[in-house]
Amino acid sequence: MISGATRVLGVFGDPVEHSLSPRMHAEFARSTGADTVYVPFRVSPENLRTALRALPALSVLGVNLTVPHKEAATDFLDELAPAARAIGAVNTVIDRQGRLVGDNTDAEGFLADLRAQFPDRSWQGKPALVLGAGGACRAVIHALVETPIPEIAIANRSPDKAERLVEELCPDRGKPIALDSPELGAWIQQAGLIVNTTSLGLKGETVPGCDLSRARVDAGVYDLIYSPAETPLLQEARSLGLAASNGLGMLVRQGAASYRLWTGSDPAVEPVIQLLGSPPGE
Ligand code: ATR
Repeated sequence: MISGATRVLGVFGDPVEHSLSPRMHAEFARSTGADTVYVPFRVSPENLRTALRALPALSVLGVNLTVPHKEAATDFLDELAPAARAIGAVNTVIDRQGRLVGDNTDAEGFLADLRAQFPDRSWQGKPALVLGAGGACRAVIHALVETPIPEIAIANRSPDKAERLVEELCPDRGKPIALDSPELGAWIQQAGLIVNTTSLGLKGETVPGCDLSRARVDAGVYDLIYSPAETPLLQEARSLGLAASNGLGMLVRQGAASYRLWTGSDPAVEPVIQLLGSPPGE
């Protein structure tokens, strides 16, 4: 029920039709009893600045940003929170008395879900292997440097991107490698944690050269992809008996962190992970 007092939240994306965020935030509002509504706004890149600057005029509490706006928005806001500055991308915009603050809850969501999915924390004292070096990877690295992981190998198709990412985000612990490098096998053998941040798996692709049969038996494999629910990488991990998780928990936990920034309420995440993980209609 929308009343005159209902506060507006939303997401800017292009396209935005497939976003799970409206359903997730409707659940957060229901479970916390907040009088908020969360609206998908299709905003083109040319209109991003205008749409953002209109938020205070419309008394919108805040918005999430998704593809293709996360990086571009950093130029149009009044202030960036430390996570957004370090990651170089904004996923949450908050209107603080007319000042637009850009924050990023992806790293927080990833770390919270990693701790929930692999609770024995055996991954903390061992090297980690991160596949990819794009936008999503930056949030993952920003999270991993908060942990006692001693070394982080970043394996990317274009190794220069992995090199830049190491220089910027983890110069002491990072090791850039090419995805097709012979070194990949050695990192798979040592890693306590293997994280896929590439888009490989979205359409059923395998990650070339990533043979998990050499992985430690106590390694955890995390794939940021949540649709499909199980990429070939995760299928392989599960068939080998390794702990494996898709990125649905990260999605819900970054959403819950955004919701907390806007409303001050801390919604329960587990029921929403269950809800979004079930086929529609169930
Ligand atoms: P996102 O914001 O989701 O991270 P992105 O910034 O476009 O998206 O990054 C996509 C990642 O998937 C990159 O690491 C990309 O590798 P390159 O940097 O070499 O482009 C990786 N990727 C995409 N398609 C790939 C493929 N066919 N083989 C290997 N890596 C691929």
